[in-house]
Order: sequence, then C-alpha cells, then structure tokens
Amino acid sequence: MLRKNIFTVPLFMALLASCVTSKENKKPAADRFVEENFFHSEKMLQLQLADADQKFAAPKGAYPRTINKKGQMTTTSMYDWTPGFFPGSLWYAYEYSRNEALKKEALRWTEKLEPLKNFTQHHDLGFMMYCSYGNAYRLTHNAAYKDILVQAARSLCTRFDPRVGSIKSWNRFVSWHGNKTYHYPVIVDNLMNLELLFFASAVSGDTTYRHVAVTHALNAMKNQVRPDFSTYHVVCYDTASSNVVGRETAQGYADNSTWARGQAWAIYGFTMAYRFTKDPRFLATAKGLAGYYMNHKNLPADKIPYWDFNIGQPGYTPGVNSNALRVKIPYRDASAAAITASALLELSGYVSGKEATGYRRFAVATLHTLASPAYRAKEHTNGNFILMHSVGSIPHNNEIDVPLVYADYYFLEGLLRYRKIAHNEKLFEE
Ligand code: GLY
Repeated sequence: MLRKNIFTVPLFMALLASCVTSKENKKPAADRFVEENFFHSEKMLQLQLADADQKFAAPKGAYPRTINKKGQMTTTSMYDWTPGFFPGSLWYAYEYSRNEALKKEALRWTEKLEPLKNFTQHHDLGFMMYCSYGNAYRLTHNAAYKDILVQAARSLCTRFDPRVGSIKSWNRFVSWHGNKTYHYPVIVDNLMNLELLFFASAVSGDTTYRHVAVTHALNAMKNQVRPDFSTYHVVCYDTASSNVVGRETAQGYADNSTWARGQAWAIYGFTMAYRFTKDPRFLATAKGLAGYYMNHKNLPADKIPYWDFNIGQPGYTPGVNSNALRVKIPYRDASAAAITASALLELSGYVSGKEATGYRRFAVATLHTLASPAYRAKEHTNGNFILMHSVGSIPHNNEIDVPLVYADYYFLEGLLRYRKIAHNEKLFEE
C-alpha cells in the first residue's frame, strides 16, 4: 500500500502538472505573451509603489519618472508633464488583473492630482489628467472624475488663441541656435492633449472643446507635417498675424530632422483624432506618418528607432547650443517604439485587409522586442521601471538611455490593445 502511494502521488502530481501545462499551451500565443508581461509588470509596479511612497514627501508631490546614475528611481513634481503616467500604468495593471489592491493605489495616485484641473502653465494637461483621471473614469465611472476632466479641458483651452488656431505649448521657446526667442511655440506632442478635449465634449455636450481640438489638429496637419509625412517638432507662430515664424526642434537632432518620439506622438495623435471625428483627412495623415516611420531606411530591424531618424546625416545640423552636436552614440528610444506600437494597433482597426495586418504585425513585433531581455528589465534593476533604453532629450543632455515612466505606460496600453484585438473586442467604449 505504502509502495503504491509513493508512486501514485508523484504520478498524480505529474499528470496534474501536465494538464495545467497543456491547458497553458492551449491558450492563444497572444494571451500567453500578454499574461507573462503583465505578471512581470505588476511585480515591477509593486516595487515602484514602495519606492515612490517614500519619495512622495514634498508639498508639490513627487511622481516617478526615471532613474539616476546609481540606478535609483527619481521623481518629478506633479506640475511637470509626466505625473499622469504612473497612476495610468497602475490603472492598466488593474484593468488586466482586477487586483483590488492595485485599484486602491491607482486611485490614491490619481486623486493627488486633482489640483491640476485648474493648471494653465503649459499644454500637457491632457497627458497629466487623461492618463490618470481618464483611465480612472473609464474603469470606475465615478461622475466626480468626469467633472474634474471637464474642468481640466476648460483650463487647457485657455491656451488656445483662435487667431493662431492652436493651443500654445510653452510660454517661451529659446532656439538652439541661440538667436531667437519665440512666444507662441506649438510642439507636435501637443496633439496628444486633444484626447482630453474630445472626451470633454463627448461627456458634457459642450462642443467648444471639440472645436478647439479639431482646429488644432487641422493646423498641425498644415504646418507641422511635412509633405513626406515626417514632422517638425516645434512650430512657432506670430500671434497677431497667425503666421508661422519658425520651424525648429527642441528635442530632435536638427530643425529639419524627424525626432522619433515626435513622429510617434503624431501617429498616435492623428489616429486618435480620427477616432473621435471620422474625418478622412486625419486618417490619411495618420497612415502617411505611420508609413514614414515603418518604412524608414534608418529604422533598425528590431523596430526600436534611434532617438531621431536623421542623426549625423548630411544636410542635418544641430543648433550651436544643442548637446546633439556632442553625442556620438546613436541611442535607441524605446518610448517612441512603445507609443507607436500602441497607436498602430488602434490604426489597424480603421483600415482593412493587408493594410490592417501590416500595422498589427509591425506593432506586435515591436511589443515582442520591447518584452525581450534587450529592453525589458529584471526585477530590482532599472529602478523597477519595466522598460530600459529610452531617451528624454539629447539636446538638453537629459535622461539619456534610461527608463522613462511614459515608455512603460504605452507598453502596457499596447499589450492591452493587443489582447483586445486578439479577442475581437472593441478598443474603445462607444
Ligand atoms: N512631451 C515631451 C516629450 O515627449 O519628451
């Protein structure tokens, strides 16, 4: 009897294990891939939470952003452009796992941002509030969050001058050439803030926000997108005449180059503008921008772009004060790849046939590269951020080859979109 038990217990365990394994193997590859990545990411976020809590001491709040030279997490004030991404990542992790403890943390880190609803000092309110409160509202339907988001949209619109037809990004921009200061700079990143405005009109019935968003997007299409569908980073306007008075770069290699993250913001921004408007001009622009990125001869085979598509090429010259003149290593930017992957998954839903498959395959291949050991960090490394190898700004000599909180956010968003598409689910609620 004893002898029998010795053999049957391990045999039973082995059979059970093989059942579990074969059930696992029967899961579609997309599910297994997304599951493994969320399992890992949740662990990283839990470690970040412990660290971030210790750092949230200053009165203005401190939100995770990147790491220092010792590999420790560093934070920024909530008035910088990135505080929405950490709670946003917590919301995405909660959306995947439905872990109530994560929801509690996501709520806590979101609600600290409420004072931003009245913030008007730069254009990044869309990033700050939509990635945090926008996800909070989507996943909880708490009406108070809707009101906060509408108030934030109102604040953002104070930066819109109808004569120019664009939301002013920064109050001032000093050219890297050292010879010009502009007072109405509009950066390509700004397209991302329009999501907050489209949302605000949809939930409030007040079309003002949507009008501002559409006007801004049309103006960007005209002035920020080049004929070959590459993008200028900064377009500067004269308020009185509404004329363009400068086209320069702040974070790219040269004024006439294409900054990889800028191109990524534009692909995402025009795809999102099409989601809300169904205006074929926005779809055509998004497709053109995506084609430029996907087919660029300088895009490495693993689909993670260099931080700019034109580094060191003849005909592209950084301004004399730009650190881009000195940096010789062509760093990659995982954040641009993550943003683009997420955007292409949405774009694939607005086209059909080979075109849709092409966007989807490119996006999924990008997510796989990001999830590989070359880009995805192990626990207790990389400040516990999920992805390595992003670039904040080479011209400013700031955040070079580091993790960035927004790279993680768009990576998680892309994974969720991939899973929804694999299950034939809608990406957005009607
Ligand atoms: N929106 C600022 C950046 O992409 O670095």
